[in-house]
Amino acid sequence: MKRWWSMIVAVVALVLVVESVMAQQKNDTILNSGCSQYNASSTLEFFRNLNTTLADLRREITVNRTYFGTQQQARTTNPVYTMFQCRKYLSTAECVSCFDRAALDIRSICKLANGARVIYDDCFLRYESNGFYTTATALGNTGRCNNDTVANSTSANFNTAAGDVLNNLLLATPKIKGYYAATTEQVVGSNTTVYAVAQCAETVTETECQNCMNVAYENIKSCPPRSGARAIDAGCFMRYDDSAFFASNETTNIKKYLKDGGSSDKKAIIGGIAGGVGLLLILLALLLWYRLSGKKKVAQRGHILGSTELQGPVTYNYKELKSATKNFNEEYKLGEGGSGDVYKGIVKNGNIVAVKRLALSTTKAKASFESEVRLISNVHHRNLIRLLGCSSKGPDLLLVYEYMENGSLDRFLYGGKRGTLNWKQRFDIIFGTARGLAYLHEQFHVRIIHRDIKPGNILLDDELQPKIADFGLARLLPEDQSHLNTKFAGTLGYTAPEYALQGQLSEKVDTYSFGVVVLEIVSGRRCSDTNIESDTDFLLEYAWKLHEKDMHLKLVDETLDPNDYTTEDAKKIIEIALMCTQSPASLRPTMSEVVVLLLSDDRSLEQRPLSKPTFVHSENRIREDTHSTPPQSVSNATATLSDFVGR
Ligand SMILES: *[C@@H]1O[C@H](CO)[C@@H](O)[C@H](O)[C@H]1NC(C)=O
Ligand SMILES: *[C@@H]1O[C@H](CO)[C@@H](O)[C@H](O)[C@H]1NC(C)=O
Ligand SMILES: *[C@@H]1O[C@H](CO)[C@@H](O)[C@H](O)[C@H]1NC(C)=O
Ligand SMILES: *[C@@H]1O[C@H](CO)[C@@H](O)[C@H](O)[C@H]1NC(C)=O
Ligand SMILES: *[C@@H]1O[C@H](CO)[C@@H](O)[C@H](O)[C@H]1NC(C)=O
Ligand SMILES: *[C@@H]1O[C@H](CO)[C@@H](O)[C@H](O)[C@H]1NC(C)=O
Ligand SMILES: *[C@@H]1O[C@H](CO)[C@@H](O)[C@H](O)[C@H]1NC(C)=O
Ligand SMILES: *[C@@H]1O[C@H](CO)[C@@H](O)[C@H](O)[C@H]1NC(C)=O
Repeated sequence: MKRWWSMIVAVVALVLVVESVMAQQKNDTILNSGCSQYNASSTLEFFRNLNTTLADLRREITVNRTYFGTQQQARTTNPVYTMFQCRKYLSTAECVSCFDRAALDIRSICKLANGARVIYDDCFLRYESNGFYTTATALGNTGRCNNDTVANSTSANFNTAAGDVLNNLLLATPKIKGYYAATTEQVVGSNTTVYAVAQCAETVTETECQNCMNVAYENIKSCPPRSGARAIDAGCFMRYDDSAFFASNETTNIKKYLKDGGSSDKKAIIGGIAGGVGLLLILLALLLWYRLSGKKKVAQRGHILGSTELQGPVTYNYKELKSATKNFNEEYKLGEGGSGDVYKGIVKNGNIVAVKRLALSTTKAKASFESEVRLISNVHHRNLIRLLGCSSKGPDLLLVYEYMENGSLDRFLYGGKRGTLNWKQRFDIIFGTARGLAYLHEQFHVRIIHRDIKPGNILLDDELQPKIADFGLARLLPEDQSHLNTKFAGTLGYTAPEYALQGQLSEKVDTYSFGVVVLEIVSGRRCSDTNIESDTDFLLEYAWKLHEKDMHLKLVDETLDPNDYTTEDAKKIIEIALMCTQSPASLRPTMSEVVVLLLSDDRSLEQRPLSKPTFVHSENRIREDTHSTPPQSVSNATATLSDFVGR
């Protein structure tokens, strides 16, 4: 009992303590370290496992002479996952020496913590009690500029050279096998050389590496003319300096990864980065937050660089949750959904959670409940709501989620908080939602199709970052009829036509819904609202018509400050939304492609012709009356469909 309480506390308030000293820069200076505030639950076994993985890692880098490795003891009750990486300009001996220092420091700094990280100029080491290998960029990422600047006379040229090398690394690193690059550039008119390296953890995808590089670049791009800088993140690293920190024969030939020698591309990427105003803002917010939280020594709370998380769902006591929600009191109700109602609950230690009472308790649902819950509770992503635990012993099946004070996006779009989101916040919400979906579709080890993406299922945290709720539950529903719940009030709403009409399910169903939600976010209108000029055009069709007339600005919410965004910004977002709502589904981009499109300033967007979305008109008005008794073929089609497609 005691143990599960401590676990609840642990999950509800993930805390890492961050310390950073950058006095005399030496190769043994810790740039960043973080410890989980929670001790391993079984210290002996956990640390025996940790020792085993560390020994394995050391052997791997020593014997196999690799610069990166992961080792885990996963099949135990106290699993340990470790990752180590060193920069490739080191010799094997130096790499091993950095490892030894890290293994020593991590224990002396973090003691019994069940998760920890140390990052140096030359290497980093991290361990956790759950898998974290596929995440590169994490909340708390930061950039540090050196205090001293280069000599006055060379600074303009130095800025150019430093900007160039960082840009080249940003472009090339994700494309290079092993995700590592080192490069130099001579500063014009002086004998100064800029040295720079970039590296991603080798277990992340190219896209994730690219995202991390974009973040790193943003974090240090304004450091020049400072003599050097480091971008520190959970799974990538970027650094430049005016003194040689690697031998001149240790550079990577990155030319071939920079199309046409680079210079024209560089501009495009710089533009792309600048275009991702939202990203910048996210970063600024993060930095600001980081600074604030970093300064407050007393309250060292926050998710710094990927927090430590615990394995497995926590089992809650039914009575406990019943009293936490005051017997599922109407006043505590946060929302209603197809799969059940959600209540605010205040558990004994004062933490607030969201409790979902599933509207079903069929034996079939109960049978699959625990395995589904185990699956969902392993989904860790900053844009997805955390499932903290469940209760399956009482009269109802209950799910316990983290609680979001700000509620759901619909409130901000057309509810009580209408008009309070500015352009950048909207972009962040779009971007975060895309990332969350990309994770569910492509990065988690089983593919999860959400099927019910809508503003009511996108919750906003304290910083107005989106977190998708209600994923992974579809299999628990007695029969899959979620697509038939759509009110066919002359619009398909958020549901992709092939799914609504034929029950054809793929992850592109979510892409479609996402596209519709993006249009709502940009316009501040409901997708089912008709526009003033023609009461037959719903949001999607209206958007398409404006797109055809190249009048994208007309769609943008008039509560937005027009100085907040450019015509290009609006056009780009609307075009991405329209791209997501094309039919057939194969024309829609995957969500990871959407993430890239949102970040980049891809000209091919304009070259790729958009096809007109499917609009359902008079026909669906007839369906409106019949949707309660769906045609047999639809039920048949969906009965065999599952949203969990094994990999
Ligand atoms: C840079 O300046 C800050 C604030 O003045 C100081 O705390 C820090 O130690 C300095 N860093 C170096 C590398 O000198
Ligand atoms: C973790 O263990 C240390 C002893 O090494 C103890 O001081 C600390 O209070 C423990 N922390 C938690 C959260 O149990
Ligand atoms: C793990 O290794 C450390 C350092 O080598 C040692 O102090 C500790 O006792 C070991 N722990 C276990 C459980 O073997
Ligand atoms: C070294 O590499 C070989 C083959 O790639 C692999 O089988 C072996 O497990 C590695 N050794 C270590 C200690 O990881
Ligand atoms: C740090 O540099 C010193 C020489 O200055 C070297 O002996 C040592 O091996 C280096 N440590 C690492 C971890 O590279
Ligand atoms: C550096 O440049 C600034 C203007 O760019 C000038 O005001 C300043 O005097 C210069 N300092 C030195 C040491 O040359
Ligand atoms: C070149 O570097 C030397 C020191 O290495 C310095 O004394 C000299 O002034 C530099 N020359 C120029 C043009 O910056
Ligand atoms: C660079 O030169 C050093 C000796 O100066 C040598 O040990 C090292 O292997 C060289 N590195 C590469 C990549 O050639």
